[in-house]
Amino acid sequence: MTVMIRAIGTALDRIDGPEKVQGTAAYAFEQPVDHPAYLHPVQSTIATGRITGIDTGAASTLPGVLAVLTHENAPRLASTDDAELAILQSDRIAFRGQFVGGVIAETPEIARHAANLVRLDYAQRPHDTALRADRPDLYAPAQINGYFPTDTGQGDVDAALATAAVTLDATYTTAMYHNNPMEPHATIAIWTADGLTLYVATQGVHSIRTTIAHSFGLDPDRVRVISPHVGGGFGSKAYAHADVILAILAARHLTGRPVKLVLTRQQMFSQVGYRTPTIQRIRLGAGADGRLTAIAHDVVEQTSKLKEFAEQTAVPTRTMYAAPNRRTSHRLATLDVPPPNIMRAPGETPGMYALESAMDEMAIACGLDPIEFRIRNEPPVDPESGLPFSTRNLVGCLRDGARRFGWDRRDPTPRSRREDGWLVGTGMAASTYPVVQGLGGSTATIRAGRDGRYTVLIGAADIGTGTWTALTQIAADALQVAVADVDLRIGDSTLPTAISAGGSAGLSSWGWAVVEAAGQLRLRLETEYAGTVPPEGFEVTATQPDNPYRPRFAMHSFGAQFAEVRVHEDTGQVRVPRLLGVFAAGRIVNAKTGRSQLLGGMTMGLSMALHEDSVFDHRFGHVANHDFAEYHIATNADVGSVEVHWLPEEDPYVNPMGAKGIGELGIVGTAAAIANAVHHATGIRVRDLPITLDKLLP
Ligand code: MOS
Repeated sequence: MTVMIRAIGTALDRIDGPEKVQGTAAYAFEQPVDHPAYLHPVQSTIATGRITGIDTGAASTLPGVLAVLTHENAPRLASTDDAELAILQSDRIAFRGQFVGGVIAETPEIARHAANLVRLDYAQRPHDTALRADRPDLYAPAQINGYFPTDTGQGDVDAALATAAVTLDATYTTAMYHNNPMEPHATIAIWTADGLTLYVATQGVHSIRTTIAHSFGLDPDRVRVISPHVGGGFGSKAYAHADVILAILAARHLTGRPVKLVLTRQQMFSQVGYRTPTIQRIRLGAGADGRLTAIAHDVVEQTSKLKEFAEQTAVPTRTMYAAPNRRTSHRLATLDVPPPNIMRAPGETPGMYALESAMDEMAIACGLDPIEFRIRNEPPVDPESGLPFSTRNLVGCLRDGARRFGWDRRDPTPRSRREDGWLVGTGMAASTYPVVQGLGGSTATIRAGRDGRYTVLIGAADIGTGTWTALTQIAADALQVAVADVDLRIGDSTLPTAISAGGSAGLSSWGWAVVEAAGQLRLRLETEYAGTVPPEGFEVTATQPDNPYRPRFAMHSFGAQFAEVRVHEDTGQVRVPRLLGVFAAGRIVNAKTGRSQLLGGMTMGLSMALHEDSVFDHRFGHVANHDFAEYHIATNADVGSVEVHWLPEEDPYVNPMGAKGIGELGIVGTAAAIANAVHHATGIRVRDLPITLDKLLP
């Protein structure tokens, strides 16, 4: 007899919780290794040019220094295709802070001190770091991140705007933002006769393995990447950056000892990617009935001369609202800056700030409530692809959120509520994120033991999101056993190949592979073993299949976010006592870790709206506020009540679990909800993030 067990959907405590609380969960830098040496990078102090002279004398003779690495003595890489990773291979410098050397020493302190003693002479060239929408050299990339087309269009936007009853033409900008996971990027590199072992803080052991094997000309089987616990990753740990390469170069140069490298907070601001600043022009046209006739979203953003990265900023606008005439475009300025890269909901996060701010402005111009305006422009099918949605519950989220938030008590007049010197306002915005199917898919092995236990093996990652727990829940349900009977093994490239924790696709991809393997295992148990596991046990391996529904449906999650803000009349200070989000993201696998992810996303959105801002000093070409004293990230004192809800959504098309992914959805729309609430409180429309008090003072 089989018992139907439903672990999915419960608020199971983190399986790795006790280990983490007790401090026994080893993060990359803490992995025990024999007789390690410590590495500290040497960084370029100019933005562009060449190294003309190197003096390592003082550094090399410092007691405790084992080696000083520069481009003159560093091992050669087998591939320099990825220019960001091709460090210490030439005398050329492409951005300020680029790694140009490294010191290996007996202690981290000696390595750091010696790195400061390395003298470099440069032939400096003028650098160009200014992002402007009127640059004559803006260009259209061949495609944008996520393999989306750069531009799309339908109908005639200009003609529709010329005849629209109501129009809006507004430009919004977002700041440069930096990934700052709690655990900084860290690597231990160990070369042995068998090859290379890496302990790395990474979102994907197999992705890192592929990159490193290629860079060093190794068979992937000779590279082992181990990463069982990761202290956060918002995209910066999805790909290998130069720090991993530097650690491997150092370990190969030194030979015989493991080399440990952890980036400082300051180094994080030049080495691990960042969210590009954006300049976004949005034009909307509507009839007197409040139905949109035209939507145009034209984005200007930056990339680096070293390597192209094009954020998909206008992509959500292709899906959100109906309008017969539409266009989206992306143009890049190529600058002497570190390469931008992905950061939690790349595209949706800045793009939806602009679109959802514009929708608020347009609702007001049309004399409509912003929720009613969105409902009026709800598309029956995906506006640009014409595909039906697998599920689309934006309207459900808007209505449920409005009810829970008390939206009907709102007086729409801006600047209509004052309490003790504070102007009080409320605002809302929509959220969305696509259902991404991990490229290449994931593979899982499940072993059935005679003892009634099941071991699930897959090279998945837990970056703090709850994979250890949620994937165990998926396995338990698929095997129809209790959670306690499942042993999960993840975070090691010797396990079956898995996609990275990225694009909010990790759990759904890994889970699908596990469900597939579990189904085959149960079938074999019945047909080959008559329901009894043989003494030697047996195992089954299966790969996530292609989704047959993928070409037939547009697949997205949605949400609605509500914010209450208080703006001090005299100081312009902004407080956010209340955020409320309602999401429709398919089935939520773990109610506790799922809630944490959405809450974390909203908190990061608040941080983006009000605090975070990488201030670029164009004289030197670097981020001036490159530490936590100056780059303010929201802390407990900045965050009031954050309520997270979700609708029960059954989506039979996305994957067997019906789970759409939630790592990114929560941050999308928060900044617009806050900006819209600030407008409601003050009558001031801030179109440039972050919303600092100077923008709210007369
Ligand atoms: Mo996430 S920015 O897709 O790692």
